[in-house]
Amino acid sequence: MKIQENISLKDYNTFGIAVKAKFFAEVISKENIIEALTFAKNAKKPVLILGGGSNVLFTSDLDALVLKINIRGIEQISQDKDKVILAAGAGEMWHDFVLYSLENNLTGIENLSLIPGTVGAAPMQNIGAYGVEIKAVFHSLEAIEISSGLSHTFLPRDVNFGYRESVFKKGLKGKYIIYKVNFNLSTSHVPNIGYGDIQKILAKMNQAKPTAKNISDAVISIRQSKLPDPKRVGNAGSFFKNPVVPVEVYNKLKIAYPTLPGYSNGPSHIKIPAAYLIESAGWKGKKLGKVGVHDKQPLVLVNYGGGNGNEILELSREIQLDVQKKFGISLEREVNLINDKSLIYP
Ligand code: FAD
Ligand code: EPU
Repeated sequence: MKIQENISLKDYNTFGIAVKAKFFAEVISKENIIEALTFAKNAKKPVLILGGGSNVLFTSDLDALVLKINIRGIEQISQDKDKVILAAGAGEMWHDFVLYSLENNLTGIENLSLIPGTVGAAPMQNIGAYGVEIKAVFHSLEAIEISSGLSHTFLPRDVNFGYRESVFKKGLKGKYIIYKVNFNLSTSHVPNIGYGDIQKILAKMNQAKPTAKNISDAVISIRQSKLPDPKRVGNAGSFFKNPVVPVEVYNKLKIAYPTLPGYSNGPSHIKIPAAYLIESAGWKGKKLGKVGVHDKQPLVLVNYGGGNGNEILELSREIQLDVQKKFGISLEREVNLINDKSLIYP
């Protein structure tokens, strides 16, 4: 394992923010991780774990060791009737893993097609799209504790998954390095096509009895029509979470804003699309210098090139203030803000 010095992270985050890392190493094994942690401990530097960099916003250079997780490998652990457990290295690209499952006639993650990033980061925020979250297929994961170097197995009850949440984004934030994730997949198929747009696209494709591959293709086509490709325009997907409010709050807002959409979220709460709130506050398609709000999906903030993390952060704060003023709703950031102060020492 090579430890490099003063490396630009511009190509390692999908916002394309050009901050520098004091030290940088790509790890391809569990042993590499231990070696890297020993280095960081001796150098008295904190550690940042990086996957595909598709859900981070860098706001300063990092006087730290950045560990890019590149641990590969997918293997079948067991099969029992129609249930198969697949283990994947944390550095596998998520979408490649979805394609691997489809090629092997395994279902359960087809709705999560084309989400950027790595397998190891997927449990961090319980990635979700088109009516499915990885919580539904999560079996367990293996992770190394940064402070002790010890490995732990996390079962579903340990991970505390929520909407774009897990224990790794809360109490254990930055404290564990996930190196392997195990998934429960299925050889039979129960299509999940409740999310509006999927049905429309499948109808256009004349797929009345869609296979998992058909659903994956439909999801890919919807995503490509809405979301900016980070290879062309810097972004990290949804910048904020969709706010979840009590039904009474929603009903009051609905009187003032009759077109306000809302989706049931348990018996007493409603999830409101943040995109609607941001658009109504006048931000859709707006530019502030080199950064701005995407013109097709206002939940996505973009870096048109050369923008820095603080400019994006400032833009996000102005949007939060306006949405708060207009609707009385506070938007919570989904993207992980990364600076020197947010990192853990081994
Ligand atoms: P990174 O950005 O590298 O890291 C994210 C966080 O996880 C950081 O705090 C990092 O320190 C930590 N981390 C990363 N790897 C590990 C590890 N192995 N062990 C411990 N900690 C780790 N997300 C959705 O849920 N649904 C979507 O539909 C969706 N669409 C997107 C569309 C676009 C165009 C983009 C750019 C992003 C989208 N995202 C979406 C967000 C993003 O793809 C996911 O959050 C993804 O899981 C991030 O993976 P990553 O490897 O890039 O993580
Ligand atoms: N909308 C607007 N204006 C727009 C676009 C959307 O008002 O310009 C409103 C509409 O009411 C629309 C609703 O927002 O029906 C929902 O839009 P969309 O289906 O595009 O989804 P989203 O709620 O904005 C969420 C996730 C995405 C995920 C999609 C599909 C969050 C924070 N975001 O977006 O995840 O891909 O649903 O399931 O939950 C991500 O997390 O990075 C991400 C992209």
